Amino acid sequence: MIIFVFWNHNLIEMKKFILILIAAVAVLSCKSAPQPAVVSFDDVIASRRSIRSFDASKTISEAEIRTLIATAQEAPSWANTQTSRYYVALSKEKADAVREVIGEWNKKNTEGAPVFIVSTYVKDKSGFRNDGIPANEVGNGWGAYDNGLSDAHLILKARAMGFDTLIMGGRDADALRSIFNIPEEEAIMAVLALGYRAVDPDRPARKPLDEILKFF
Ligand SMILES: Cc1cc2nc3c(=O)[nH]c(=O)nc-3n(C[C@H](O)[C@H](O)[C@H](O)COP(=O)(O)O)c2cc1C
Repeated sequence: MIIFVFWNHNLIEMKKFILILIAAVAVLSCKSAPQPAVVSFDDVIASRRSIRSFDASKTISEAEIRTLIATAQEAPSWANTQTSRYYVALSKEKADAVREVIGEWNKKNTEGAPVFIVSTYVKDKSGFRNDGIPANEVGNGWGAYDNGLSDAHLILKARAMGFDTLIMGGRDADALRSIFNIPEEEAIMAVLALGYRAVDPDRPARKPLDEILKFF
């Protein structure tokens, strides 16, 4: 009888102890490993917009930019030539210099953007045979094509990480070449402003699907 009471008492204490242990583990695991919000691919596509009003109070780190460029590198390229190159203005001084050469409209719209990325590609590689002859009539158009694919990866990953972008084709290539010391072997494509949106823009309308699509 005495043994039973003693055993029963210990069992209750043991149960209490296990419950406390489970609760503690649950609380600790919540605190130490916050789960990132699950963002579906469709959410990324639907929420990505060209942003023309940035929140100047937020910055983006070099480590985060490395993640974006590493994602851009995952894009397919002609014969895996990987000719896209990226030049990143992280400092205020370089960012200001870029904003001076993207035209008044783009300058105004990127005022609060903390980061600017210039995307280029090495010419005469993508779309070219080993002997340097263009593989077909598109020529260096394939380098531009690959660069666009890389940039698409970049801007979608940026959105998935909670950032926003504006691709700008309106820019002075010669001025960018001298700001970043970009070699002549590279064709300068877009400037990408990177930051956080200050306002949620409307979705610009898309053409009817059947205007751009033909089945045979
Ligand atoms: C190659 C390219 C160049 C662009 N250049 C500019 C630009 O110089 N300035 C600008 O405000 N938007 C520019 N845009 C953004 C487009 O205007 C925008 O993608 C389009 O209106 C659709 O809007 P959305 O990106 O919000 O879907 C450019 C986009 C691309 C792909």
